Amino acid sequence: MYVCICHAVKESDLRQAVDRGICTWKRAVKDLPIASQCGKCARDAHALFNEAVAARLMPPP
Ligand code: FES
Repeated sequence: MYVCICHAVKESDLRQAVDRGICTWKRAVKDLPIASQCGKCARDAHALFNEAVAARLMPPP
């Protein structure tokens, strides 16, 4: 699923960024071209990113 249409960033790209050790939104937007054009994806992408970071820090039992 695409998170950012403007730059064709997928949900999996965000999750892979977290897997590579990116754990802050500031670094994520530096690493991926997300939310850098129209900005409409910013809120949902940020929420998804936070979810991915939380899942990585606290994997399900
Ligand atoms: S949808 Fe992400 S910048 Fe436009």
